[in-house]
Amino acid sequence: MMVYLDYAATTIPDRDIYREVEEYFFKFYANPSSFHHFGRQTREILEKERSLLAELLGISAEEVIFCSSGTEANNLAIFGCAYANSHKGKHIISTTVEHKSVLMPLAKLETEGFKVSYLHVNSDGVLNIDDLKRSLTKDTILVSVLVVNNETGVVQPYNEISKIIRSFNDKIIIHYDLVAGFPKVIKKFNEVDANLITISGHKLYAPKGIAILYIKSETKLIPQILGGEQEFGKRAGTENFIGAIFMCKSIKKCIHEQDREWERLWLLRDYFETKLLEKYNTNILIAGKNSVRIPNITSICFKNKNKNAIIEALSEAGVYVSGGSACKSRENQISYVISAMGIPESFATGCIRFSFGRYTTKEEIDYTINKIYEIVKY
Ligand SMILES: Cc1ncc(COP(=O)(O)O)c(C=O)c1O
Repeated sequence: MMVYLDYAATTIPDRDIYREVEEYFFKFYANPSSFHHFGRQTREILEKERSLLAELLGISAEEVIFCSSGTEANNLAIFGCAYANSHKGKHIISTTVEHKSVLMPLAKLETEGFKVSYLHVNSDGVLNIDDLKRSLTKDTILVSVLVVNNETGVVQPYNEISKIIRSFNDKIIIHYDLVAGFPKVIKKFNEVDANLITISGHKLYAPKGIAILYIKSETKLIPQILGGEQEFGKRAGTENFIGAIFMCKSIKKCIHEQDREWERLWLLRDYFETKLLEKYNTNILIAGKNSVRIPNITSICFKNKNKNAIIEALSEAGVYVSGGSACKSRENQISYVISAMGIPESFATGCIRFSFGRYTTKEEIDYTINKIYEIVKY
């Protein structure tokens, strides 16, 4: 049996949508920027999908910027905003548990004279609103927060965060990395007070290499990829036409299924955690268990165990899981997200992320539980 429990790293592409868009790939290969009829026809299809999606998200089409990845979208948000607003101030606020695609641009900005305040999280993975209040200064130009943590599923109090920032200075730009949280906690972008939001296609049953940065109109941003006039002059480069069409259609389906999926995955995750707690009791710790969490991610920390040894053994049994964020999990080191929550080292070294999705079944969960019981002994 093969059990894929690594949906937070990437989802399984939607086969029905693949079949639907396969035809587009060969039929509409013209460059959407070409002036001839074929190019204009291709452009029309792309813009129709963009508009339909924008409507669904409660925003306007010009606010949807297609990028090559969530990483690129985060880079554009951070660098683009910092450089466009540096004359107003050079202070940025973020958290210690962001994805690397936010942390690395911030680290680079620090070498260029920007000051970054990193908010800490408590043992449940949640940032402290009073820390945010204290960190805001007259030089603050940007606050960037990961709404849902991709390792633990913990949700930050984003409405409160926006409220605090706006009441301090409504010119501060708010960026939310919503890659792990869309459409689970936020379905419509106009229902959250943010200037910039990142989402990524491959977490939404679309292919890798396509993402969206929502840029609210009038948000000042300096493009980071220079060239043609594509994406309203905010992101140069011939559009990934087929990727964008696939992602737009896939997002529609994800939004449509969201409520039913939330319920189903909630039951599966609770069942999984309960079974592990029954067996292992105080030998396991569930990261962020007491916080608001999305239902498809659970990070289980096994006491005095080596996570890569468990991942390897599960992999041999056909169960695919991760030891944290996919881009770091090859290294057998403690995740900085888990460390930031103050989880003791004896548990942190054995911390494994199980993430579920649309095709996860109860049978697969039972198989996984049995394999864990066989592999992890105390
Ligand atoms: C929270 C979060 N932000 C950003 C990214 C980067 O997205 P992409 O893989 O499309 O570059 C990821 C990917 O794992 C993520 O989990």
